[in-house]
Amino acid sequence: MTQSTDAQTVIEAPHETDNLDPRTDAPSRPDAPVTMNPVRLGPITVPTPVVLSPMAGVTNWPFRVICEDYGPDGLYVAEMITARALVARNPKALRLCHFAPSERIRSLQLYGVNPAIVEQAARIVVDEHMADHVDLNFGCPVPKVTRRGGGSALPWKTDLFRELLQRVVAVCSAANIPVTAKIRVGIDHDHETFLEAGHIAQEEGCAAVTLHARTTAEYYGGHSDWSRIGELVAALDIPVFGNGDIWGADDALDMVRETGCAGVAVGRGCQGRPWLFADIKNAFAGSPERVDPTLGDVCAVILRHAGLLTEFYDGDERMAVHDLRKHIAWYLKGFPVGGSTRKAFMECENLEDVRREIGRLDPTLRFPERVKDKPRGRVRFAKKVHLPYGWLESRETTHEQREALFGDDPMDAGY
Ligand SMILES: Cc1cc2nc3c(=O)[nH]c(=O)nc-3n(C[C@H](O)[C@H](O)[C@H](O)COP(=O)(O)O)c2cc1C
Repeated sequence: MTQSTDAQTVIEAPHETDNLDPRTDAPSRPDAPVTMNPVRLGPITVPTPVVLSPMAGVTNWPFRVICEDYGPDGLYVAEMITARALVARNPKALRLCHFAPSERIRSLQLYGVNPAIVEQAARIVVDEHMADHVDLNFGCPVPKVTRRGGGSALPWKTDLFRELLQRVVAVCSAANIPVTAKIRVGIDHDHETFLEAGHIAQEEGCAAVTLHARTTAEYYGGHSDWSRIGELVAALDIPVFGNGDIWGADDALDMVRETGCAGVAVGRGCQGRPWLFADIKNAFAGSPERVDPTLGDVCAVILRHAGLLTEFYDGDERMAVHDLRKHIAWYLKGFPVGGSTRKAFMECENLEDVRREIGRLDPTLRFPERVKDKPRGRVRFAKKVHLPYGWLESRETTHEQREALFGDDPMDAGY
């Protein structure tokens, strides 16, 4: 049900399907061999076509470095940076633009609604040699973003979507920096946008598209519908990265078999499992080898992560350890570690606290088979989709809508 009030359009978003796994009917071809080729993005080659999907609050350079060490040939994208915050030279936004010297491809994601502002942000990226690749966020389902026409709401307005891409591609292509777009299936199944958005991205010179195979209304609920990735692959000439519900290397193989995508993008599946990139690299190379860490191995990763985060926060251990807490919860997930120990980790304030708690764990514990490759992290459906007033009435923005939208940006408050 869609309602327009004075302030905004709201779609009531009940579970759109009773079938939480739309792939259940997909033909199963478990033995079909998978052949992966390097993906070219303009001057950049991604030898193993696996992408660390941008995740706000997660994919800063310490986490990217850890992931990249496991799978050195992929593409590791920074979390989204609000164009307006970058243009304003907000220190927190600038911190997110940092890359470690070891990072092979410096990949940065911009988010914005106003094409002129995103263009300015892209110009900063180019002029200050901040990145080798720019991704654009059209996938965010968060209400404070979509109610201002941003993220996954934006491709519905084809004029705005095209103009934004045009401006950013013009700035970046002059510097030989490839631009890609990350999209969802649409706002809901009555308002799908992915095929049109994919075509526009291709026409405007994007080097690739990543499709998170859910609608905004589906948020992170159920299982993504990989058949939509297959549809986009069939419709476009540029590479399509498939995204959604890759929890283990076999999921990556299955997605490629089912969709023919050129590569895969991994989000929640690598939270607390950065070695998933080694597993997928092996799987794509036809090797059955998988990383099977003990709790001791995982703790070594936690300590390394803690050290890198301390560098990221300029030596501020408290900030580093606060950032690390959610990662520790993910790293320990599935291990038989008691509630009081988990709580103690969540109360750590510095590196010494983390080391002390790690010292209390049994390093010989193995990862229990039953929790491997299972969904983790956000798994909710949206309750409602919030959009600007009258958003769904036409596919183009009106003058009034643009004026209302470009006044301020919802993500400013995020920094
Ligand atoms: C905590 C979190 C933060 C995210 N932040 C971003 C972001 O900054 N930019 C973006 O394009 N997608 C973001 N996403 C979406 C992911 O990149 C990915 O598309 C989504 O999680 C689906 O992939 P998955 O099933 O592998 O997790 C985020 C997802 C999560 C869970």
